[in-house]
Amino acid sequence: MAPYSSSHSRLPMVSSLAVAFCLLIGLASLELTHGDELRVGFYLGSCPSVEDVVKDTVAKAFATDPGVAPELVRLHFHDCFVRGCDASVLLDSTPGRPAEKDSPINNPSLGGFDVIDEAKSILESRCPGVVSCADIVAFAAREAVHNAGGFSYLVPAGRRDGIVSNASEVSENLPKGSFNVDQLQANFARKGLSLEDMVTLSGAHTFGDCHCSAISDRLYNFSSTNAPDPSMDPNYVLLLKSKCPAPAPGSSDDPAVFLDVATPNNFDNQYYQNLKNQRGLLSSDQALMSRGDTATMVKSNALFGLIWKSKFADAMVRMGNIEVLTGSQGQIRRSCSAVNSNASPPTLL
Ligand code: HEM
Ligand SMILES: *[C@@H]1O[C@H](CO)[C@@H](O)[C@H](O)[C@H]1NC(C)=O
Ligand SMILES: *[C@@H]1O[C@H](CO)[C@@H](O)[C@H](O)[C@H]1NC(C)=O
Repeated sequence: MAPYSSSHSRLPMVSSLAVAFCLLIGLASLELTHGDELRVGFYLGSCPSVEDVVKDTVAKAFATDPGVAPELVRLHFHDCFVRGCDASVLLDSTPGRPAEKDSPINNPSLGGFDVIDEAKSILESRCPGVVSCADIVAFAAREAVHNAGGFSYLVPAGRRDGIVSNASEVSENLPKGSFNVDQLQANFARKGLSLEDMVTLSGAHTFGDCHCSAISDRLYNFSSTNAPDPSMDPNYVLLLKSKCPAPAPGSSDDPAVFLDVATPNNFDNQYYQNLKNQRGLLSSDQALMSRGDTATMVKSNALFGLIWKSKFADAMVRMGNIEVLTGSQGQIRRSCSAVNSNASPPTLL
């Protein structure tokens, strides 16, 4: 590992003071904009069964349909990257104002909404007006990972729900499947996440599926070459072509394929193995092998699955911290799909 240089100690005193001053200002504004810190056990006094309720609800849904696990993990990601983890992704569109969930990036491919609604309705009957939808989404993502991969982690809570959801903000904030590593890195950096977090979290593509429309360019017309992406294993291309026929004009057929061709439902480190074998599904997945630093991380994650899992848990917690509303910001929604109307009674404390 490259030692960190201590070059700042050689800076003149004036610069050091300036740095310290900026740090203070930075911390102060962080305080103002982000309010309180999230914490583990936030609901112990106000709704102690919350994590058990989410656990049981996700386990029940998973038993009927394991596909809810990837849906819930992606739901948390799409919530956090757009306006922070404030459950804005759960709000329904209102007349003339399309919400995030109706952006073509989310509709029809995003799922898991009914699992969140189910948990919310149980929680509203037990502790009305206490548990935010944003926290339910974060807990549900953890349970999804737990059910599909057998490991769990502590989830700090105390998020509040936002009152704004705007469809156009989705494409501005989420990374695209066509991104190269530099673009992926910049996109995650905007959310305060490191290059390593980006590589670690991309491992979520070890389960779940993807619509053919997201990869048909890669299969049939990569960079307008009328040929498949040369960075993809030719046998994998053949397999995918058999499941994703060339888009016919006028057809709205859009089947789905597994993100992880080898162990599609398991939350394991197979994703990284696939990348080493040129079997990443999205261009953005395979791109991780195209730069030395990220390729080294991929190989290490392919080799050390347990270490990757623990890094994944830590990175999920950091992702769950993005631009959260806390304290008296936002509100605790009564129904996850709509902001509280003015007629609602004030939040019970
Ligand atoms: C690194 C940049 C990323 C890009 C470009 C990206 C893009 C995509 C795309 C295009 C799909 C397929 C959607 C469809 O058409 O059905 C997908 C699925 C998925 N993504 Fe990502 N994603 C990224 C990062 C992440 C992260 C950080 C997570 C979570 C931590 C995540 C979790 C998932 C999951 C679980 C699915 C499968 C969903 C399902 O089966 O319902 N992705 N992603
Ligand atoms: C939604 O977001 C877009 C892009 O950021 C912005 O131009 C537009 O004004 C927003 N719409 C509303 C109703 O705030
Ligand atoms: C391939 O992509 C280019 C650019 O998007 C487009 O002009 C061309 O018609 C495409 N070819 C086919 C066969 O779809």
